Amino acid sequence: MIFVVDFGSQTSHLIARRIKGFGVLTKIVNPQEAYRRIKEEKPQGIILSGGPSSVYQKKSPTINKEIFDLRIPILGICYGFQLATSLLGGKVIPGKKEYGPASLKMGNGKWEMGNKLPQQFTVWMSHGDEVIELPKGFKVIGSSDGVPFAFVGNEEKKIYGVQFHPEVEHTEYGSRILKNFINLCDAKIQKREIDIEKIQNKIKEEVGSSYAIGAVSGGVDSTVVAVLVAKIIGKKFIPIYVDNGLMRPKTDVYIKKIFKSLSIKPIIVNVRKEMLKLLKGVTDSEQKRKIIGNFYIRIFEKEMRKQIKKGNDVRFLLQGTIYSDVIESQGTKHSAKIKSHHNVGGLPKKMKLKLLEPMRSFYKDEVREIGRKLGLPEEFINKQPFPGPGFAVRIRGEVTRKRLEMEKKADEIVLSELEKTGILQNVFLSFPVLTNAFSTAVKGDGRNFGEVVAIRIVESKDIMTSTWARIPYDLMQKISSRIVNEVEGVSRVVYDITTKPPATMEWE
Ligand code: XMP
Repeated sequence: MIFVVDFGSQTSHLIARRIKGFGVLTKIVNPQEAYRRIKEEKPQGIILSGGPSSVYQKKSPTINKEIFDLRIPILGICYGFQLATSLLGGKVIPGKKEYGPASLKMGNGKWEMGNKLPQQFTVWMSHGDEVIELPKGFKVIGSSDGVPFAFVGNEEKKIYGVQFHPEVEHTEYGSRILKNFINLCDAKIQKREIDIEKIQNKIKEEVGSSYAIGAVSGGVDSTVVAVLVAKIIGKKFIPIYVDNGLMRPKTDVYIKKIFKSLSIKPIIVNVRKEMLKLLKGVTDSEQKRKIIGNFYIRIFEKEMRKQIKKGNDVRFLLQGTIYSDVIESQGTKHSAKIKSHHNVGGLPKKMKLKLLEPMRSFYKDEVREIGRKLGLPEEFINKQPFPGPGFAVRIRGEVTRKRLEMEKKADEIVLSELEKTGILQNVFLSFPVLTNAFSTAVKGDGRNFGEVVAIRIVESKDIMTSTWARIPYDLMQKISSRIVNEVEGVSRVVYDITTKPPATMEWE
């Protein structure tokens, strides 16, 4: 068994999942209880996660120093590495900030942790502090240009540290590094499987004989979760689609089709006009999310009352919340708040329905795996995710009817051009952003001061990190020409070449 001590990293659960993926039992523990539990449960290895704090700050999370004397292999990642350094007598200072890819060069030493690693590979950094002095007994395994102590270890004590993040998919050989650590921990390998029956039994137990109302959006998460629940409670599950006009066109048709195959008729509520009225004059992204989230719940409550009037015992609100939504809305004890995703943070306090979120602890690729196991067709499973607040967070500034139409038209162009070239299925997200920045164009003979549209196309598997898609120049040209020609009010198209971290995928 491996312990992951969670110092509030966005990726603590991702570390745990990677380790579990090797078939090793993994537990996430809080720093406060870590020492006691390590003594009691005797894990074969300990990983100290990253986190948003700085070790030199007062009240930053720490751990009992004696864990380094227990002769259990330890791997510190980012903050975990800095903490180990500082507890063992090294030095950490506010350093040069570094986010995104860096090139790691391995030294000449022979290390178990360096097994099957090439001489040079790309790693992902996300830090503002830096280790400038190693504790006694530590040596450098590898360095990057900016970080001399990027990968270090004390072979005798089996304590290692990495400044980069081996758990994210964009760190090349990240899995190999974690596997090397597991191998030297001597942890027992077991087979890991997602047990659909177990998840369904839990839902059955929780819902009992009452009804559940399901928030469906046509996206992968809500589709998978709805089908999962509908397969157990049948017509006692009432899917509702709030058509607020902020979703991709024809989503309603798509939703009807899915539920038809389960003999369920979804309730479709058209609130497009009201939604735009509520968003009038609103420019702040968090405020948009709250307004959209609150409105959405209000509609649900109204539908719930209708159902209760009919004599149905509705007690649950089903949501397709997945694990990345939870962490990015500050789900773990020490993590920093990035955005309040509407299906978690924007819920009004006095909500009258109990939340049912069976996918809350799963990552996107696991949700897709569950979808496949439920027999959903690949076209549904591979659909791009779409944010709950929809186009509203892809329109910087006020969402007006005109700007929403512009966004939808540009979105349709991006999607259709990517589809024609077969690239659509290989990217995680693709969308235009109305940037609320304006620039000059000359259209015909006239000067035109129109809006700048940014195109964001990203590749990602775990959502926590992404790279911008290297699409062909000709395709960029086609998208750009079509948008400036066909979408009135647009003067210029730019391509977003920022990785995550630091930039989130959505602009708001
Ligand atoms: P970011 O922008 O946080 O996006 O890198 C990661 C994933 O989350 C989606 N996203 C949202 N989903 N409500 C949602 O349901 C939201 O408020 C929200 N904001 C971002 C985004 O589309 C991507 O898939």
